[in-house]
Amino acid sequence: MNPPTARPAQPWWRTAAIYQVYVRSFADGNGDGVGDLAGVRSRLPYLRDLGVDALWFNPWYLSPMADGGYDVADYRDIDPLFGTLAEAQDLIAEAHGHGLRVIVDLVPNHCSDQHPWFREALAADPGAPERERFWFLPGRGEHGELPPNDWQSYFGGPAWTRTTGPDGAPGDWYLHLFAPEQPDLNWEHPEVRTEFESVLRFWLDRGVDGFRIDVAHGLAKKPGLPDVGPDPDVTDLPYQDVDAVHDVYRSWRKITDGYSGDRAFVGEVWLPSPEQFARYLRPDELHSAFNFEFLCSAWEFDAVKDVVDGTLAAHARVGAPPTWVLSNHDTIRHVTRYGREDTSFDMGNKRLGAPTDRELGLRRARAAALLTTALPGGVYVYQGDELALGEVESIPDGLIQDPTFVRSGGTDRGRDGCRVPLPWTADGPSLGFSPDGAAQPWLPQPADWAGQSVAAQDADPHSALTLYRTALRLRRDRLAALPERLDWLPAAPGVLAFTRDGSFACAVNFTPHPQPLPPGSTVLLASAPLQDGRLAPDACAWLDLPAPTRTDAPGADRRG
Ligand code: GLC
Repeated sequence: MNPPTARPAQPWWRTAAIYQVYVRSFADGNGDGVGDLAGVRSRLPYLRDLGVDALWFNPWYLSPMADGGYDVADYRDIDPLFGTLAEAQDLIAEAHGHGLRVIVDLVPNHCSDQHPWFREALAADPGAPERERFWFLPGRGEHGELPPNDWQSYFGGPAWTRTTGPDGAPGDWYLHLFAPEQPDLNWEHPEVRTEFESVLRFWLDRGVDGFRIDVAHGLAKKPGLPDVGPDPDVTDLPYQDVDAVHDVYRSWRKITDGYSGDRAFVGEVWLPSPEQFARYLRPDELHSAFNFEFLCSAWEFDAVKDVVDGTLAAHARVGAPPTWVLSNHDTIRHVTRYGREDTSFDMGNKRLGAPTDRELGLRRARAAALLTTALPGGVYVYQGDELALGEVESIPDGLIQDPTFVRSGGTDRGRDGCRVPLPWTADGPSLGFSPDGAAQPWLPQPADWAGQSVAAQDADPHSALTLYRTALRLRRDRLAALPERLDWLPAAPGVLAFTRDGSFACAVNFTPHPQPLPPGSTVLLASAPLQDGRLAPDACAWLDLPAPTRTDAPGADRRG
């Protein structure tokens, strides 16, 4: 095993722990039952003390909220529900004052149907230049009554909506890969490109440290918008991962490289093959991307080891830092997933409502927290992960706001269950989410969240919150400066063990029985108490290895 090598300071985004703030559910400052920038500002000390390095804010722009803000009507202003542009600037400055970097969400694949460009397009005649910034096409069929092609919306139903002219007559159709309120932009149009370059500069000039790019594998479409066909090749769809998208990121990279302060991109790149994924991370494109393969993986020894190996190999090829993600605002919270028979995640089949062993899920989620924070690269914490919140599956139909619920005819209950407002205090009508006397939270919180609130966990040495705080502090002090590599260590079957530098090790027990720790190792931190000196089932421990193990461990498989 190689001794740790001294290396020059790394840019922050290679190792950062990034906390995802879903603004409308984080903290409500003005009492309307919806989270806002004032709420975030009041909780910045909490985020600083948690030990994360950066905050990623879901879209906070002016939006009719047809898709929780992913339908942007003005990319240079803040929605009044959340605050003002001046408040956003203050928030960025205050976060920096606390040592926290700021990443904003950029939504380039589509805008809102209320964006001035789309309003102009709808008001214009068929074939008018105003329509060319989008995808307007005549329908098929004798009277144009069929959509221009067979593409389906990710939210269900056709990806096309027919327009109606001023005289009430049906007209051309427009493309929306998501909700009809989210028309797709035409990235072949030069004004679309210059507009987004200008939006990037707008926020970079206001001090943001980076951008999360929504649907980063989207944007470009195959020329002629061909049909997908009855048996599509998922690695070659005409509306995702089309080569021209890489030109966009090359031009964006030049922009961030022109600013001081290591500004960075993280792409939402959902693609089936690691080869396709890695192309987004070439040195002149995006700095990093979310590791959805890891998020989707089952909590099983082989699956996790394979995905870690695959991730490290794919990223090493392009020199990009891996990232580790367990949950986000689109997926089932992992405490719940990990308590189910099938622990994997599949966006197309969310399996909501399956029987859940909450205690098992919690044990695994605590282990996963230590595993992900120990792996080389960056790590994401979705708000509420640090409280071990589970998916809320009891939201009444009438309160569900996710457009997927309506678009799927109620067969997909959507993503609101992972977006429920955070519990800050153990009592009060909104568990401290809103100030006293405020409106009800925009989604109802389960009663048993009182015991999982920040107040309930704050001083409890055994809480998930304490585990996260301790892990993030140790990670910053001890792991962040280590090389981006790991070496597998020999271990009992079903125990995943690796070292980062020959002295620090991490071991996860995927078996249902206690398992021995590496001989002579000392526990630095564990997700569950040891059982007779052994690692408990579904537990993870961080370890100091004894000196002899630090030289070549027999059978250790090298990576990095
Ligand atoms: C991304 C976002 C998701 C949104 C979609 C459309 O997948 O994460 O929340 O609905 O893009 O913008």
